[in-house]
Amino acid sequence: MSATPFADRARIDAFDKVRGATAYAADVPLPGMLHAILVPSRVAKGHLATLPVEDAMRVPGVVRVLTPDDFPPPPEPVRFPNADAPPTLHREIAFRGQPVALVVAETLEAAMEGAEHVVPTYEEQTFAATKRSALAVREEARPTVFGDAEAALARANATVDVEYESPTQHHNPIELISTTAVWAEGRLTIYEGTQFASGLKEVVARILRIDPGIVDVKSPTVGGAFGQKGWVQQQTAIVARAAMLTGRPVKLVTPRGQIFHLAKFRPNSTHRIRLGADADGRMIAAHYVSDQQQSRGGTFPSNYHAGPSRLYGIQNYYGGAVDYRIHTQPPGHMRAPHEHPACFAFECAVDELAYRIGADPVEFRIANDTRVDPQNGRALSSRYLNECLSRGAQRFGWERRTPEPGSMRASDGSLVGWGVASGTYPALVTATVASLRISADGTTRFATTHHEFGQGIKTAIAAVLLDGLEIDPTRLDIVLGDTTAAPQQITAGSWGTFSVVPTAALAVERMRAALSELLGGRQVSGNIHQQLAAIRRPYLTVDVSQLGPGQEAAALERLRRGQYAIAGPTFPEFTSMSYIAHFIEVRVEPTTRRIRMPRVVSVADCGRVVSPRTAASQVRGGVIWAFGASLREATEVDPRYGGFLNNDLADYVVPVNADIGEIEVDFINEPDLLANSVGVKGLGEVAMVGASAAIANAIFHATGKRLRELPIRIEHLL
Ligand code: MOS
Repeated sequence: MSATPFADRARIDAFDKVRGATAYAADVPLPGMLHAILVPSRVAKGHLATLPVEDAMRVPGVVRVLTPDDFPPPPEPVRFPNADAPPTLHREIAFRGQPVALVVAETLEAAMEGAEHVVPTYEEQTFAATKRSALAVREEARPTVFGDAEAALARANATVDVEYESPTQHHNPIELISTTAVWAEGRLTIYEGTQFASGLKEVVARILRIDPGIVDVKSPTVGGAFGQKGWVQQQTAIVARAAMLTGRPVKLVTPRGQIFHLAKFRPNSTHRIRLGADADGRMIAAHYVSDQQQSRGGTFPSNYHAGPSRLYGIQNYYGGAVDYRIHTQPPGHMRAPHEHPACFAFECAVDELAYRIGADPVEFRIANDTRVDPQNGRALSSRYLNECLSRGAQRFGWERRTPEPGSMRASDGSLVGWGVASGTYPALVTATVASLRISADGTTRFATTHHEFGQGIKTAIAAVLLDGLEIDPTRLDIVLGDTTAAPQQITAGSWGTFSVVPTAALAVERMRAALSELLGGRQVSGNIHQQLAAIRRPYLTVDVSQLGPGQEAAALERLRRGQYAIAGPTFPEFTSMSYIAHFIEVRVEPTTRRIRMPRVVSVADCGRVVSPRTAASQVRGGVIWAFGASLREATEVDPRYGGFLNNDLADYVVPVNADIGEIEVDFINEPDLLANSVGVKGLGEVAMVGASAAIANAIFHATGKRLRELPIRIEHLL
């Protein structure tokens, strides 16, 4: 199969970004705006006894203090992203840091000072702070089973039985979580960086018992989302209520320290994996049981075992999962939420098995390819994992690797380790609508479902529109994340491009047809704007909608109501997955044991690449995040108080530019034309998947040490 590769283009939003002209939610200038600060609970579990607000009200500039009394009780049945404490103010405390009051003031300083003067008292209850606590409640999820893993393990020629651990980690986007709400003329407008503007609109309306038809949500640019901004935030409805009660715009930018306790995070998880290979070096069995920390009412799934079940052609698979329910805010999605910890564990275990049987780790993976979805025997829409592995090996220079651990040295005496790992992520899609208008005045407006948070979705849409239509690229307005422009769907799970790029292509096709019908065979010169002007037509609009392969039409209705409208990775005729192979060099300094990562080669199969520049940038971001997740990031829990201790960027250590060496990115760039008309699959999340395993495998190759718990730090190598 072949298709013309898309050209490399600059980001459509780059010029505004580098000039600081891009407006994020917290940048909206509004006259008469008030500032707000939340008062967090100081206890991990209990009941508010007293909540005096008089001292705060005496602080000059404080306008109002909102308490649980200012909110209607949450509607039943309660089905919110946070079932522990639905996003409003409550007297029942489900986790430390849960907001108990909101101070609203003329200035940010007054709001902060006011918040310090709200000192509630609590009736405290006992709580579980970690999954090893005696009060943690153990709960098993439904397993994924095919074939007979135990029987196959029993007849395997070689096996491994290993346990890996991934720590609690927190999102730290540059853009903090912020909400600005305006109540005017019977309408509520919310500006918030979110991945799901329509879902946020529906939930806020339900919490505040107002008609969703009077709520507008605008989120045109988001400064980093990655799952943390997946839905309504704990604060959204609280700030909206403050705007309704004061009659003035209210802004809350939540401080980073509070976000550690309020927002979604990556839960601690443990992964016990048993693998078996036959005499020919084919993996015949995998038995994989994970457990994770979960909140009491949390709904973050525990299906870590789903991704690895589709990575190779393993015929006998048991995937089990356990939740330990404790008293934190609910854990949630954080970039490759299951696939990153799962593939870290699984791809390290695969490396251990390759070493056990004396196979080359790249050859071993290539020999375990599959042409079908092992879960159900369906065809795969496309799969180029072996091409990723062989091309990556070639670009990396893998043939110069000597397999014995500790056998390679740099000229400065550093131990050199070369590691490989693969990754996969489901190709998912949502129902999408779009409206394309080209005007005689030279402007074009494309309003559609989905959100831009820097991943480059606008640039990908622009590539399709500009390749297909002769329009002025400098006056192209792509409107995203705005419930007044189009119904919005959650943009997550790497389904943005898969969903909206084929919809843009459909809009192009319809526009060309509409234009040629309008011209009726007349020869009119110039671009489309000039043609419309010549025939005295002010504008031409086409409206389109699109479903995923085999997706039922009801998904469009759900989209319009702010509900999930997602399909995949199993479609009626096939399963669709994206793939990646990472090759990573680490160097371990001989005396200090400092670990460095000078060189990475990552090759991805995400179908056809529409925006080469932003796609490569996604892969670099994923590798850098994997570096942080492997070698830096862990959130420490204080079991006495149930809080997260290192809740700032001084103590929660993330990678910096100086940590990162060269990251070479390549794409197979083969269109997946079963998936959709353009041939795209998802990329954002798969970029990170497996990179942590490649790092840990490289550290083993450098040092001979199998370190099975992240993050790996200097002290583990001394
Ligand atoms: Mo995805 S967890 O929304 O980056």
